[in-house]
Amino acid sequence: MQNLMKKYEGWALVTGASSGIGKEFAKELAKQHFNLVLVGRNEAKLQVLSNRLKSEHPINTRVVRADLSQTDDLESIPSQTRDLDIGLVVLSAGVDEMGVFLDKDYSDLQRMLRTNVDSLTYLAHHYGNAMRERRHTLKKRGGILLVSSLFAYQGIPNFAAYAATKAYVLTLGEALTSELGKQNIDVLTLSPGLTATPFADGLKMNLSLLPMIAQNPNKVARLGLKKIGKKATVVSGFLNKFYAWENRLIPRSWPVWLFGALISNAMRSFNKRNSLKHSRTAN
Ligand SMILES: NC(=O)c1ccc[n+]([C@@H]2O[C@H](COP(=O)([O-])OP(=O)(O)OC[C@H]3O[C@@H](n4cnc5c(N)ncnc54)[C@H](OP(=O)(O)O)[C@@H]3O)[C@@H](O)[C@H]2O)c1
Repeated sequence: MQNLMKKYEGWALVTGASSGIGKEFAKELAKQHFNLVLVGRNEAKLQVLSNRLKSEHPINTRVVRADLSQTDDLESIPSQTRDLDIGLVVLSAGVDEMGVFLDKDYSDLQRMLRTNVDSLTYLAHHYGNAMRERRHTLKKRGGILLVSSLFAYQGIPNFAAYAATKAYVLTLGEALTSELGKQNIDVLTLSPGLTATPFADGLKMNLSLLPMIAQNPNKVARLGLKKIGKKATVVSGFLNKFYAWENRLIPRSWPVWLFGALISNAMRSFNKRNSLKHSRTAN
């Protein structure tokens, strides 16, 4: 693992630190003795993590409770961190809205767009500017790590808007690697495939029917921290890398059709199992 503290120094801010991949990022950064700003909605979980990391490592932490889909909460984050020298920002928070696009409540889709797209753009813009300033005054390097998804690499029926939010993150990240690189700010876009977190547990699909192997969230986070400053984008896992790569070689409609069929099948199987379970408990 590269020495990120030597490279970026100071504090690291992690969104989605209360769970899954974000929590693993926080744990790994604490091992490197970064002081940490932990952002999420679940203050109790963030506080438990904060206490644990402070007891295990010689670091300071600050818990910032914020619902990233709410403008007031989002815009309060800069003022709550103004006094800190932030050298690394990891934007891991994200939600999915699976299901038939036309059957979704628009308010749910909007909450997802605000969380996955708006908040990530706002925080990358704010802390990118702060890092540019920091570079001029303190001559320090900065890093921004964006969490996208394997689903960014193609349209995904039943995850249409979610996959589109992740395609936005990937495209934004690729361009920022080039733009911000000139300011000594490293930008990496990490695209995990299926990863064993509460996010994956909540998917209403029979995951065993998908040609995917759930990855360990710690391995995924470690990969991001290994590659930042060295690459623009990284997909976690060999099979996932293959899916992202082959999409460039075949007509765009083929993987859309394939994943559409696989996911519909996995959703049908989940619903069938669920209705069987319900009818057994009713009897
Ligand atoms: N797990 C997978 O299979 C998978 C695959 C590809 C990509 N990803 C991406 O990886 C990232 C992390 O997901 P994960 O698997 O670690 O999921 P997770 O365990 O469910 O964690 C999601 C995190 O996002 C935070 N979050 C969600 N909505 C928020 C909101 N409105 N405001 C503030 N924080 C919010 C949650 O914190 P609170 O609940 O405390 O708010 C939580 O810490 C996401 O961007 C996801 O799209 C995951």
